[in-house]
Amino acid sequence: MTFSETFVWGAATASYQIEGAAREDGKGLSVWDMFCQKALTIWNNQSGDIACDHYHRYKEDVSLMKQIGLNAYRLSVSWPRVIPEGTGALNPKGVEFYDKLIDELLAVGISPYITLFHWDYPYELYGRGGWLNKDSPDWFAEYATVVVDKLSDRVKHWITFNEPQVFIDVGHRSGYHAPGDKLEFAQVLTAAHNVLLAHGKAVQVIRAHSRVESQAGLALAGIVRIPATESPEDVEAARQSMFSVRARNCWSNTWWAEPVFFGRYPEDGLALFGDDVPAIGDRDMKTICQPLDFFAVNIYSGSMTRAGKDGQPERVSFPVGQAMTTFQTPVRPEALYWGPRFFWERYNLPIIITENGMSNVDWVSLDGKVHDPQRIDYLNRYLLELKKAYKDDVQVLGYFQWSIMDNFEWREGYKERFGLIYVDFPTQKRILKDSAYWYKEVIASNGANLDKL
Ligand code: NOJ
Repeated sequence: MTFSETFVWGAATASYQIEGAAREDGKGLSVWDMFCQKALTIWNNQSGDIACDHYHRYKEDVSLMKQIGLNAYRLSVSWPRVIPEGTGALNPKGVEFYDKLIDELLAVGISPYITLFHWDYPYELYGRGGWLNKDSPDWFAEYATVVVDKLSDRVKHWITFNEPQVFIDVGHRSGYHAPGDKLEFAQVLTAAHNVLLAHGKAVQVIRAHSRVESQAGLALAGIVRIPATESPEDVEAARQSMFSVRARNCWSNTWWAEPVFFGRYPEDGLALFGDDVPAIGDRDMKTICQPLDFFAVNIYSGSMTRAGKDGQPERVSFPVGQAMTTFQTPVRPEALYWGPRFFWERYNLPIIITENGMSNVDWVSLDGKVHDPQRIDYLNRYLLELKKAYKDDVQVLGYFQWSIMDNFEWREGYKERFGLIYVDFPTQKRILKDSAYWYKEVIASNGANLDKL
């Protein structure tokens, strides 16, 4: 059994993680450019200054994507590369880069999926209050208009934001990511609310300005609960836990998804956050709740949940010796069954897995190749679970592996290698890993070869 005929096989990246050329051709600075300059912030004081030098090597990279046989490539646009100060004057060279990249992809039959924001916020706007500024949703809408006007004659798939949970919560509450702020919780919620408004406004821009029929969505970090057993009680406990707000942070599915899909904040979150919830304007929820075409979600793992004695969800620890990736992410393939299934049941939109993959201890072997059997096994296991979800009538439109190439893993610098393509950073030489050849076969067989063990 294979996936649907139209199933999309892709891989993903993000601008700051691969482009480099941080101060070239008129690009403005982003909060990540500045954050990386702070001593002891990033592993080994690394930065995305050069990264994979994709800005200069995009042609080679696209030809490698073609070699792997990708149907689609998910990339993000760097806001300060296009509008250096975040609002106002455009940077023609920045626009030209994306223009040429899109043409290069289309010339070899790869569909671009564009994420408008994957964390590299313009530093100038941060100086004006960033996401706390009440004008910030309009700044984002202005930027979205520029990108959509320039690229929507060729781009059909748009994702407004990547993992708002991470850049808001980790960037503004715990301060572990750029811009590195540790705001009061009420302010964090204000920033989150402005991001939701920005999302809604950007979708309106996509609908109004697209020159071809387009599709839009938002990519959440999927916080997945796996039922400890398949008993109805455990399944219900996992479902409940996945769709609840249980802690005073922005690290949940529902604080983001319910406004976007249902036009209201979740009751449990409102009760728990109390007076910290910002004043919500009369029309805010209408703006935020724009119809979307798919439910995009990044899924890497999940935690185990069962029904406790009182019937309430209870976390179950992983067994001793739980398999872990190099980044210490538990290997839990069932997350790619239960995550899509629960999201599909609740939000009723076709699912796109916008990220899934693992970091591994990859290096070049004496034979000059990069052998990554763990990654092949990880992807195989996860994709089998996705296939099972598909067989159980969960509508799944596509899958994007993270990442097409090794890149700058934020706080971890270049320590974590997630790529299908190995990058030797000092020379910028690329080598297809074994997993890239394996993925090529998966794509060519539309997933039929996943059962071939
Ligand atoms: C999620 C983020 O979207 C991406 O930027 C990051 O590199 C991967 N996960 C891996 O941690």
